[in-house]
Amino acid sequence: MAPSVAELKGEELPNPIAGLKSKLSYPFYYPYFDVNEKFPPTQLFEHIDAGVNADPAKPNLLTPNTTTRNISPYIGTEITGVQISQLGKEGLDELALFAAERKVLLFRDQDFKDIGPERQIAIARHFGPIQRHPTSGNVKGYPEFHVVYRDPEHDEFREYRGRDQVSGVSWHSDISYEKQPPSTTFFFILDQPGVGGDTLFLSQVEAYRRLSPEFQKRLEGLRAVHSAVYQAEFSERRGGPVRREPVETEHPLVRKHPVTGEKALYVNQGFTRRIVGFKKEESDLILNFLFDHIAKGADFQIRAVYAPGTVVVWDNRVTAHSATVDFENTILRHAVRLTPQAEVPIPA
Ligand SMILES: [Fe+2]
Repeated sequence: MAPSVAELKGEELPNPIAGLKSKLSYPFYYPYFDVNEKFPPTQLFEHIDAGVNADPAKPNLLTPNTTTRNISPYIGTEITGVQISQLGKEGLDELALFAAERKVLLFRDQDFKDIGPERQIAIARHFGPIQRHPTSGNVKGYPEFHVVYRDPEHDEFREYRGRDQVSGVSWHSDISYEKQPPSTTFFFILDQPGVGGDTLFLSQVEAYRRLSPEFQKRLEGLRAVHSAVYQAEFSERRGGPVRREPVETEHPLVRKHPVTGEKALYVNQGFTRRIVGFKKEESDLILNFLFDHIAKGADFQIRAVYAPGTVVVWDNRVTAHSATVDFENTILRHAVRLTPQAEVPIPA
């Protein structure tokens, strides 16, 4: 019998299906796990957002050749006619600002997945130091890559969520437990199902705006604990790496974007555990209401639908997202994330 993921102690996922790795379009990005890989605790750093310097007219990003289409009024814009790989400093600054304003950008027909790891990392690093994930698959020699991978034998997503869930939808903001959580995040697909595997995104700015002024006032000033503990324990249980001791961090419940000044809810079911200073039932009541409010907000959500060459860029500070695992587990899906970290969240 093939070894289970829980028995895995080696460097790569076991590969019980002969030739599966060779079927990947980009085997270089096959997920790499080294249980002996260790990172030191994250140090605080000074962060100046790339969007601060951007020309609001965005002449380098939105040229006469560029076409944009808003997917919904609050969130999401599809962009064609510009290559991220060709943008200089000004263009990348404008990209940061546009991502902050529109929350999610879907760049079509990109050569990004073919420009090589050094250039991919260099582009993402323009927005901040790239997080090296404490538990997920990365790429050998390139711990900056967070590999999202599923094949018929490896379904970490379903294991992480638990197999007895009615729904696979799991709203979260990436690695919000970090003291300096991420901002302008890059995600590109290497192999995907023909239909399905979209990513759901929502605007935490609009989620906040929907609340009454009285309720908004009650939330402002509160802080909540975001925890990496479950993620680390899950990895440990299945024999995966814990490259850095899991952290728990307090963040404001409502944060202000450093460039747009917009206020956004900053709680997510994936990592937010409790409100500081509240008793358990009080904290559960408020958090469960907010998680429910966010999950039901179909009128401030979009689906990001992938096509070959799509690169999705989103601002993690003002959004939450969920995978949709709506395709058969016989299908292979392979994607990569680059996750630049940003400022310590600014309370609203
Ligand atoms: Fe995510």
